[in-house]
Amino acid sequence: MITLKVVDRVEILSVMDNSIDVLMGSTPVAKRLKRGSDAHSKPQLRAEHGVSMLVTTYEEDKKDSFLFDTGVTIDGVLHNMDVLEIRGNELHAVVLSHGHTDHTRGLMGFIKRYGRPRVPIVLHPDAYLKRKNVQPDGHESEHIPPSRRDLEAEDVEIIEERGPTMVIGGRALVTGQIPRTTPFEKGSPRQVALIDGRWQPDPWIHDDQAIVINVKDKGLVVLTGCGHAGVVNTLKCARELTGVQQIHAVIGGFHLTGPIFEPIIAPAGSALKEFNPSIIVPQHCTGWKATHLIAREFADAFVPNSVGTTMLVGA
Ligand SMILES: [Fe+2]
Repeated sequence: MITLKVVDRVEILSVMDNSIDVLMGSTPVAKRLKRGSDAHSKPQLRAEHGVSMLVTTYEEDKKDSFLFDTGVTIDGVLHNMDVLEIRGNELHAVVLSHGHTDHTRGLMGFIKRYGRPRVPIVLHPDAYLKRKNVQPDGHESEHIPPSRRDLEAEDVEIIEERGPTMVIGGRALVTGQIPRTTPFEKGSPRQVALIDGRWQPDPWIHDDQAIVINVKDKGLVVLTGCGHAGVVNTLKCARELTGVQQIHAVIGGFHLTGPIFEPIIAPAGSALKEFNPSIIVPQHCTGWKATHLIAREFADAFVPNSVGTTMLVGA
């Protein structure tokens, strides 16, 4: 079992997500971006089909930050970081949830601007796999994975790990490969990967990993990128790795959108009830049907996200 340090509080700032609503009001959990009288003359935040979160933990007088995922365009996250006045050179790591383009494309832009002094990049080795989805009509959509050669050329520190990794001095856990145990979370059946020079079925996306943080008097905060491992498998894994049973918050993409994944909404929704999280923030690939179910069935826990919103957990 892994001993995860307990932090006083954590802030999760949505640097990139699929949607933005600048008019939503703040709540004790969700701090919305303040807009001054010059709001329309300044550069605007962008939303895109991708994820990026700035995670900042506080423990007494110690503050540590890292970036979880980097969005789908080369410049989108950098642009939003500028608008949000995030100083990239204060980050201690970049963690990739998996290799899909909508989580990794902004990485090289980030490294070119902030890669020195060395910021460790944490990823599962399968994140480098070249992949595509093949539809029944033969249509293919290809992913652009991060390139190990390009990363090495930038002389960054690369932490390639299949198992769990700690970042920011043991205050955040990167789960590594997540065991698939539920009967309904079965990965992406239409995905193939170029392995040993040949396109082969690769439904499981083993590189999919989550972030786990233990907040004092609250419990675990679990962040998913795309949730390809399944949100229920991910929460089970967070409990098993840390020995902490209380899931306080789950934030991120749950991958329940589109015809292949919608049948998972009902069983995942009822399994989620057993964890009874106080905060649920569906993002990105969760989809409107699952988001509606969460808003209805977890009315007190549901918090809608928007690019630029900071979720606040802890004292
Ligand atoms: Fe995604």
